[in-house]
Amino acid sequence: MTAINAVTDYTREGEVGVITLNSPPVNALSAGVRDGLAEGMAAAIADAGAKAVVIICEGRTFIAGADITEFGGAQKGASLFDVQEAIEGSTKPVVAAIHGTALGGGLEVALTCHYRVAVPSARCGLPEVNLGLLPGAGGTQRLPRIVGAQRALEMMTSGEHVPAKACLEMGLVDELVEEGKLREGALAFANKIVAENRPLKKVRDLDDKTSADRGHPEIFANFRKANARKFRGFLAPEYNIQCIEAAVNLPFDEGLKVERKLFGELITGSQSAAQRYSFFAERQAAKIPDVPDDTAVLPIAKVGVIGGGTMGGGIAMNFMNAGIPVVMVEVKQEALDRGIATVRKNYERSRTAVPAETEARMARLTGALDLEALADCDLVIEAVFERMDIKKDIFTRLDAICKPGAILATNTSGLNIDEIASVTKRPEAVIGLHFFSPANVMKLLEIVRADHTSKEVINTSMKLAKKIGKIAVLVGVTPGFVGNRILGQRQREANKLIFEGAMPWDVDRVLYDFGFPMGPFAMSDLAGLDIGWVKEKSKGETIRDVLCEMDRRGQKTGAGYYDYDENRNAKPSPVVEKIIKDFAAKQGTNTREISDQEILERCIYPMINEGAKILEEGKAIRASDIDVVWQNGYGWPVYRGGPMWYGDLVGLDKVLAKMKEFQAQMGDVFKPSALLEKLAAEGKRFQDLK
Ligand code: 3HC
Repeated sequence: MTAINAVTDYTREGEVGVITLNSPPVNALSAGVRDGLAEGMAAAIADAGAKAVVIICEGRTFIAGADITEFGGAQKGASLFDVQEAIEGSTKPVVAAIHGTALGGGLEVALTCHYRVAVPSARCGLPEVNLGLLPGAGGTQRLPRIVGAQRALEMMTSGEHVPAKACLEMGLVDELVEEGKLREGALAFANKIVAENRPLKKVRDLDDKTSADRGHPEIFANFRKANARKFRGFLAPEYNIQCIEAAVNLPFDEGLKVERKLFGELITGSQSAAQRYSFFAERQAAKIPDVPDDTAVLPIAKVGVIGGGTMGGGIAMNFMNAGIPVVMVEVKQEALDRGIATVRKNYERSRTAVPAETEARMARLTGALDLEALADCDLVIEAVFERMDIKKDIFTRLDAICKPGAILATNTSGLNIDEIASVTKRPEAVIGLHFFSPANVMKLLEIVRADHTSKEVINTSMKLAKKIGKIAVLVGVTPGFVGNRILGQRQREANKLIFEGAMPWDVDRVLYDFGFPMGPFAMSDLAGLDIGWVKEKSKGETIRDVLCEMDRRGQKTGAGYYDYDENRNAKPSPVVEKIIKDFAAKQGTNTREISDQEILERCIYPMINEGAKILEEGKAIRASDIDVVWQNGYGWPVYRGGPMWYGDLVGLDKVLAKMKEFQAQMGDVFKPSALLEKLAAEGKRFQDLK
């Protein structure tokens, strides 16, 4: 065996030269890996005894893509194109041996190999779109030549990781080899192609799929139309589509030029910068400085959920999906039956529902009417009414019932967890697990650390979150925690703006155009204006009171802030406009023309400022954690990073100046945080905080 460099070996087995990469964690195409591949290929070509070449990786995966950490820096080592030319132009057949994931640049390297073999558990994909990019190493031109335009469109605009079996069916992989025996399988395959004297298959020369798609622009028009909503605001999906169009309509080298040009635009743009930041932010959020990764993880074999409402049911489904049995507790049989029936309905309604799978999951759910049924649970999550007295009562009883070592969690969306923990004799076992509705769908989990929560309980909760497919962010106890506390700022300003002259649809439009899925008033209409509203207590003191009293309770009643037609299409409501104007007149507010820019700054800058206060108070570990919360729990547009990233992008000096201006005009709710003042004075960004 010859060491090519620190991450690459070359060896020969019989008549096959084997290049082995070993660059943990994911064999990303760093300068070292690229050099290793280039020199490994040179060694294989020079090796007279080698009649074919296999490229294989050590560790958990084949090459998982370009090294994202290198983007933006000066190019070092061999270029990826040089490496690909060496492989594709090789006079000896080259076989990629794939396990784990061949993603992005990794798959693009494999596509320059003449053949590809994989183990059944492997997956292939071009996920660049999720980083705001397109495959920039020929992938946009090669993939459609194998799978055709339609499948390439789907794969490249979703970034999906396609299982090996499907890759085989599409011709992306030539042969599957036995699981766990990739090396042997790849060598046997290489020997076979040598023995059979098979040709050097170059994907760039294929034309049957692309020529079939040529002259059918409707493939692209239909795809754009069908996905317009999903792609709204994002640049990368459209750029990927344009590259596939080029693959269909232009010769290979011309198509490559289009790819290079569009890749260059994306990689230097703000969207990809935000999306790459988000990739690392999400992974960073899993790291808790004072809770090392080797902290004990408590076994969670059974979970209890108190409350069979929408929230409780959704929470239960997460664990049932992950194979963990759940006991759901309600006070009345009727409520329990309803709760269980709702869970079943959710499964049956889901797009991927398979009856047998629904039954297997439902078999993991049992119901009970007594908290005593939770005695043997390893984790209990309370998801009842947001009232401190009720929560305290439940936790007092849980403390007496639950086995030692059990984790006692609350799903409160903002109450003081230290106060809840104080009624137990085991505050170290108490933690907040704040799920977002619908809890079986939303990715975010705010894990709330109280004063006495133990490190084991934190680590177990973080690891469990990953197991159930959630993105967890550890936050501290503060009213509304991180997400809702920041939301409160936006809500306050939205509510004020409609008395000052902007209409609800103006505020909604500005936030929608910014990239949120909907604005706050459309959101209220969707959720129902009467959530938490009590008819008997309503005094017509707020717009919401008035609307609810008029039975304008949102979409479900056909009217709320908006008027709705029978298809639930919203229209600005003249009735609401009059109510708002009357209200403003009664309050003596002077209304004025409010610009879209002011709406945006009034809604967003206080959120950034609140994020800064949260950091100052140590309620979030890092600025990027706040952004992870807002992207995954509140629909912050991914291509704008998150409130803190966006603040950095605008410039903290500008945000500060605007906050001061608002403070002078409208009072201390706009008072800049000390951290914002400090960073702005030092010319720094939230990202510079370490
Ligand atoms: N570059 C640099 N680091 C990477 C990386 C990459 N492409 N992919 C993963 N990593 C790092 C992660 O940041 C993480 O680091 P950490 O341990 O310090 O936090 C570590 O590798 C492990 O990653 P995960 O925690 O995500 O591990 P999983 O096992 O859960 O997932 C994976 C593995 C599926 C490979 C996932 O990491 C992934 O999706 N990676 C990105 C794949 C990708 O987008 N590739 C395309 C890159 S762009 C490109 O290739 C451009 C080209 O067209 C020119």
